[in-house]
Amino acid sequence: MKSAIITGASKGIGKAIALKLAALSYSLVLVGRNKEHLAKIKSEIEKMGGRCKILSLDLEKEETPDLIVEEAIAHFGQIDILINNAGLAHSSKIMDTDIDIWNRLFHINARAPFFLCKAAVPFLRKSKNPVIINISSVVGFKGYAGQAAYASSKHALAGFTKVLAKEVQEDGIKVHLISPGGVNTEMVQKMRPDIDTSELIQPDEIAELVEFLVTRQGKGIIDHLYIRRQSGQAFD
Ligand SMILES: NC(=O)c1ccc[n+]([C@@H]2O[C@H](COP(=O)([O-])OP(=O)(O)OC[C@H]3O[C@@H](n4cnc5c(N)ncnc54)[C@H](OP(=O)(O)O)[C@@H]3O)[C@@H](O)[C@H]2O)c1
Repeated sequence: MKSAIITGASKGIGKAIALKLAALSYSLVLVGRNKEHLAKIKSEIEKMGGRCKILSLDLEKEETPDLIVEEAIAHFGQIDILINNAGLAHSSKIMDTDIDIWNRLFHINARAPFFLCKAAVPFLRKSKNPVIINISSVVGFKGYAGQAAYASSKHALAGFTKVLAKEVQEDGIKVHLISPGGVNTEMVQKMRPDIDTSELIQPDEIAELVEFLVTRQGKGIIDHLYIRRQSGQAFD
């Protein structure tokens, strides 16, 4: 049975992706720190007839990526999809950003996805339709004042994803970067309380992009999808 790993699945965008992939009959490995939230999603998925293993793990820790892949293989015997979605945002000017928060953002947003991909690729190579999707952000290619540490960690994620796409193309592994603007989750409510929530992208819209990417058959290669809220900055 095909299986998918989703990080940051305890709420927000990751939860929406989990429900979407469960509906597509993937067995799921769901990663986050909040056990209660993960347990609720697991029971929702099991009610839908799906299979689900929850892992309450901290992606800030060096050993977590290898542990996730070991658990995925132990439970489902294969990995077909890897979604690096977990993320931490932070708002402060460069002059007010200390090394601890910079390290946290880089460990969660850039280091963990890098080493999760590295650990999963040997198993993805054996899949019939292997896909890696890394969830970046509009700040992964633009620069907003007051978001330097968050933006640089997402630029790092984007840079690594570009290289990965080239290095595993010959293995048939499709690698995609999704860069959303404001999505209606707790993260944006904390980072941008000024934005009217009614104009934000809904988490399910990101899950729909994931569904499109994992189900499409075309020959063309999609590297990057940028989705923005209506009054967000147009692509230039
Ligand atoms: N919301 C937006 O406007 C927006 C825009 C662009 C990009 N994004 C990106 O989309 C992704 C999902 O964001 P979201 O809006 O859904 O945020 P969210 O509601 O704050 O959810 C973040 C998820 O990441 C997990 N996470 C955070 N730190 C973790 C850690 N140390 N170890 C394990 N899991 C951790 C959280 O799980 P626990 O709390 O259970 O640990 C949670 O499931 C992020 O990468 C974010 O940067 C969001």
